[in-house]
Amino acid sequence: ESDTLITDYDFPYEGPFGAFDQMQLQRGLQVYTEVCAACHGLKYVSYRNLHDEGGPGLPEDQVRAYAAQFETFDEEIDDYRPATPADKFPESALPEAPDLSLMAKSRAGFSGPYGSGMNQLFKGMGGPEYIASLLTGYKDAPACAPEDFPGYYNVAFGAGGFPESCIDEEGHHMAPGSWIAMPPPLLGDDVVYEDGHPATIEEESKDVTAFMMWTAEPKMMARKQAGFTGVLFLGLLAVLLYLTNKRIWHRAK
Ligand code: HEM
Repeated sequence: ESDTLITDYDFPYEGPFGAFDQMQLQRGLQVYTEVCAACHGLKYVSYRNLHDEGGPGLPEDQVRAYAAQFETFDEEIDDYRPATPADKFPESALPEAPDLSLMAKSRAGFSGPYGSGMNQLFKGMGGPEYIASLLTGYKDAPACAPEDFPGYYNVAFGAGGFPESCIDEEGHHMAPGSWIAMPPPLLGDDVVYEDGHPATIEEESKDVTAFMMWTAEPKMMARKQAGFTGVLFLGLLAVLLYLTNKRIWHRAK
């Protein structure tokens, strides 16, 4: 595998008190719908989840309208019909394009130092950083590469093809990343955001990535809340145990 260039982007859901930004998730849904869905599916996500608290939080009528844009195959009537909130998003339209439902958790961002994975822990989980870096990682191919080398050069993608002519005598890659089959999906201003947010390539990338973090971990907000409540209770229990201990043993001192 090649060296890759991953940027440590900040996302609002990071850290113990971080939370998904509802507007960002809605913008990410828009990018997914208008750009990525041409090739990629989200087959583990149901339309009705778009209404969930802690997620994009679309009102129910908007979820219904959103679902109705898509057709789904209904085995009972053995035919296609407009989707309802109970249905799932489609599978990938392009078979070579992987499903994006769990992508944010199935990729890593920071594997070093020395492949130990320590940066995974210290810099945050990394899958979203990897995806945002991938979407912004298309660069001009290095001069060492043949013109007709298949795919698109991307500095964040490590798993793709790499031309022999870009590997030196010691076997080192002369350029970061590798060649990916996905054409650059975002060029900037690919969507017009309803909330007026700037649609630079970086903002679009972060928004659609945050949306994918939500599809991969839709219960993150509830999990953080439960963890926080647990720590609070354990803290209280510790104080009470301390006082109890003092009281039981106060004569033995
Ligand atoms: C791969 C995201 C749009 C075709 C991928 C991967 C991600 C991704 C995360 C996986 C990379 C990996 O394996 O580590 C996105 C996003 C899009 C988008 C967020 C919209 C902004 C598209 C479009 C197409 C496409 C429009 C088709 C024209 C592919 C293909 C692969 C891929 C063929 C497999 C690449 C390979 O393994 O070489 N995409 N994609 N994607 N995508 Fe996309």
